[in-house]
Amino acid sequence: MKKIVIALDGHSSCGKSTTAKQVAAELGYAYIDTGAMYRAVTLYFLDHHVALTNPKDVSDALKNIDITFHYNPKTQRNETYLNGLNVEDEIRKMYISNQVSEVSVVPAVRHAMVAQQQKMGKRRGVVMDGRDIGTAVFPDAEVKIFMTADVDTRARRRQQELLVKKQLVNLNEIKENLQKRDLIDSTRAESPLRRADDAHLLDTSHMTIDEQVEFVMNKVASKL
Ligand code: C5P
Repeated sequence: MKKIVIALDGHSSCGKSTTAKQVAAELGYAYIDTGAMYRAVTLYFLDHHVALTNPKDVSDALKNIDITFHYNPKTQRNETYLNGLNVEDEIRKMYISNQVSEVSVVPAVRHAMVAQQQKMGKRRGVVMDGRDIGTAVFPDAEVKIFMTADVDTRARRRQQELLVKKQLVNLNEIKENLQKRDLIDSTRAESPLRRADDAHLLDTSHMTIDEQVEFVMNKVASKL
């Protein structure tokens, strides 16, 4: 069967990764969480005190960063590795969420990540979620979805996810973080978050995960 690229972009915490994972599993495709890559770069930059305003610092650091994903049968999920170390839990913490959008603005960071993502998806048969997949990484993706949801709903869902990971975070702090990230992500000069002209809009405010997956699978069916 023909293999395609499915691009899921949109605002923070509107169910992109949960939907993408299920769609990938149904199709037997690879799932690539591009947000995890920007989060891993942020972790490295913080650990190594990389100055975002110093281009040499940034390019030297990027040369030393190797990001990979490995399946963990125990958790039954793909986990993120930074230079051989499992950083899956660390990169989901609030201190990373609070810095990641500033790091993602830096053009050299974006160029390095986009190049790696294009390599990962060059054989197609991938579901990729992020902010610029349908506009910059795979503008020729066969299926493009732009996901959004009401910010209060997103904040509550994110709080629940963090709670499962035993992180107790105030709802307002989460809401402010989501709004700040959305603003930085959609106003940056380099590949800002925006809906591609040919992307289907999916508002998940009142939808279950199954309904979201069904919406995407219907769009996919017409392309296979
Ligand atoms: O998807 P997630 O919320 O984990 O992404 C974290 C951050 O990484 C986003 O808020 C955004 O700043 C950045 N990002 C990006 N481009 C992508 C994916 C994520 O700039 N393709």
